[in-house]
Amino acid sequence: STILVLHGPNLNMLGTREPEVYGYETLADIDDRLRSKAAESGHHLLHLQSNAEYELIERVHEARAEGVDFLIINPAAFTHTSIALRDAVLASDIPFIEVHLSNVHARESFRHHSYFSDIAEGVICGLGSQGYDLALQAALQRIHR
Ligand code: DQA
Repeated sequence: STILVLHGPNLNMLGTREPEVYGYETLADIDDRLRSKAAESGHHLLHLQSNAEYELIERVHEARAEGVDFLIINPAAFTHTSIALRDAVLASDIPFIEVHLSNVHARESFRHHSYFSDIAEGVICGLGSQGYDLALQAALQRIHR
């Protein structure tokens, strides 16, 4: 099976961006670890980070055409703004888990609303990069069902 991990804007800055909020690991560290974990269980993991909304949207469209089985998405600031990315994910009809490094509910009120949570299989936030590992574990179990 194939899992696609999508990271939204500014997540390319991980490791140096507000490390007290987001941690010291880089996005490459996280993607590499997820890729090898997926490979250990015989699955294929793809990933994309983009600062551009349309690139994420087009990647989701391609994912449907490619037959991607599951998405793990940290939409970053697009979480709170992007009806367009929400619609793309709905159109793709691919199940997904929403991940946030920080506990968005313990932060500014504009981070409390997500355009994704009500259509996600599940939502993980506040556990740092471990949230991605937990999402992958859940995704693999769901794919096997
Ligand atoms: C984030 C939380 C968002 O509110 C923020 O805009 C981000 C990252 C997180 O992973 O904690 O860029 O999605």
